[in-house]
Amino acid sequence: MRLSLALLAVSASLVAAEDIVYNSIHNATPIIGTWSTGSKHVVTGPGFANPAQESFTYPSTTGVGIAFSDDYWYEIARYRFASNATQPNCIVGTVLWAHGHYDLLANGSIILTPVGDGYQQVQAPCLATSNFMQNYNDTELYQSWRIFMDPVDGPKLHMFQFDGSPVAPMFQLSTTPNMLPKQMLRNVSGEVATTTSNGLVSTQTGVTRRRKAKRSGAESLQRPVGAVSMLVLAGFLAAVL
Ligand SMILES: *[C@@H]1O[C@H](CO)[C@@H](O)[C@H](O)[C@H]1NC(C)=O
Ligand SMILES: *[C@@H]1O[C@H](CO)[C@@H](O)[C@H](O)[C@H]1NC(C)=O
Ligand SMILES: *[C@@H]1O[C@H](CO)[C@@H](O)[C@H](O)[C@H]1NC(C)=O
Ligand SMILES: *[C@@H]1O[C@H](CO)[C@@H](O)[C@H](O)[C@H]1NC(C)=O
Repeated sequence: MRLSLALLAVSASLVAAEDIVYNSIHNATPIIGTWSTGSKHVVTGPGFANPAQESFTYPSTTGVGIAFSDDYWYEIARYRFASNATQPNCIVGTVLWAHGHYDLLANGSIILTPVGDGYQQVQAPCLATSNFMQNYNDTELYQSWRIFMDPVDGPKLHMFQFDGSPVAPMFQLSTTPNMLPKQMLRNVSGEVATTTSNGLVSTQTGVTRRRKAKRSGAESLQRPVGAVSMLVLAGFLAAVL
């Protein structure tokens, strides 16, 4: 009995190792397309990031946008503010863009592997360097994902981060991916690592250095009303520090 259960478990995992099943219970549609959370203002593509200039067009609300192409490219756009219980006034804002290759793993996870030209702006009023740009090249693992059919909003993508915490549900803006060109879009070879007085390590790039030389730091992020989350701080500060 125990043996046949074990065999059953093995054959179940072999089935799971085949293609993702699209059905009404989960993954109601393919993941290919353009997705965005909440009020759908954070959208990948040229309306958000200009990598060559290392700049952003700040959306009117915070959120996450992501796009997946059928040739396994992804692009991600994130704009958020976060606080924590210890220092509720020290609200850290980040705006981030990256792209690269994604894999849909047989165990249901997604891995996003950036190609190296991603960047983020960090605004941290309580740090010595309160507003700066840095390279962002973190590989991101999402434990699982599901697409449900919402009766009002249509396909809704749920992604769960490496620690199981959910990304806010994302709505499908289009079934085609809204993306910048699928190639390196920023020269990161001229980068210089610097350490700030408080021990914060940041990486300057060519564009950032030119801006600093002109004594005009990155533009200030204007926090939309009520857009502070408590959930993500530990994770992204770990990425920043
Ligand atoms: C970015 O990360 C990817 C995946 O780890 C790596 O292959 C690539 O060399 C990195 N690029 C840079 C510029 O650090
Ligand atoms: C799927 O496999 C990857 C790579 O081995 C692993 O990092 C991830 O945690 C696995 N996901 C689940 C849900 O077990
Ligand atoms: C990238 O930047 C480095 C250092 O500034 C420069 O030497 C190199 O020519 C640049 N490469 C491209 C492709 O622009
Ligand atoms: C809250 O902020 C303080 C100061 O930046 C930091 O030391 C602490 O680790 C943060 N707490 C959490 C739970 O992230």
